Amino acid sequence: MKPHEEARFWELSKDLTEDIRIRRMSEYIQHGSTTTYDHVLRVARTAYRLNHFLHLKADDHALIRASILHDYYLYDWHKKGDRLHGYHHARIAADNARRDFAISPAEQAMIQSHMWPLNLFSVPVSRGGWLLTIADKIASAQETVMDRLRPSADAS
Ligand SMILES: [Fe+2]
Ligand SMILES: [Fe+2]
Repeated sequence: MKPHEEARFWELSKDLTEDIRIRRMSEYIQHGSTTTYDHVLRVARTAYRLNHFLHLKADDHALIRASILHDYYLYDWHKKGDRLHGYHHARIAADNARRDFAISPAEQAMIQSHMWPLNLFSVPVSRGGWLLTIADKIASAQETVMDRLRPSADAS
């Protein structure tokens, strides 16, 4: 990211990244060694960069807010043994985000549709929604690859 884009990214995200409730996402593991906080920031940066690179002109602030809140479910789904987590966490995150951060209907829709096509009937309806859905898949794939490449602790 160019320095001015980087500065703008942090300017637009700081109302959420400085919030203690958002910081709590660093207490939960998304998968492998990536915390949910690291994951949502990676998704937000990826969505923001794609928006600029593709000249899609989605609202950057809404896109960043929805990205940071897209996995705001605040529990460790591994420990919960929740096999259907993939199907229903988008709805939980959207409800939590509306309760805690008074998000707009557009931001709520973006969060709720981010698991498409797993949630087949929850299709993204905006450019921001599509960017978030795609950025989530890209970030998740990167995190999975990074985990596979990381030497295990007991490797000699
Ligand atoms: Fe998710
Ligand atoms: Fe995600």
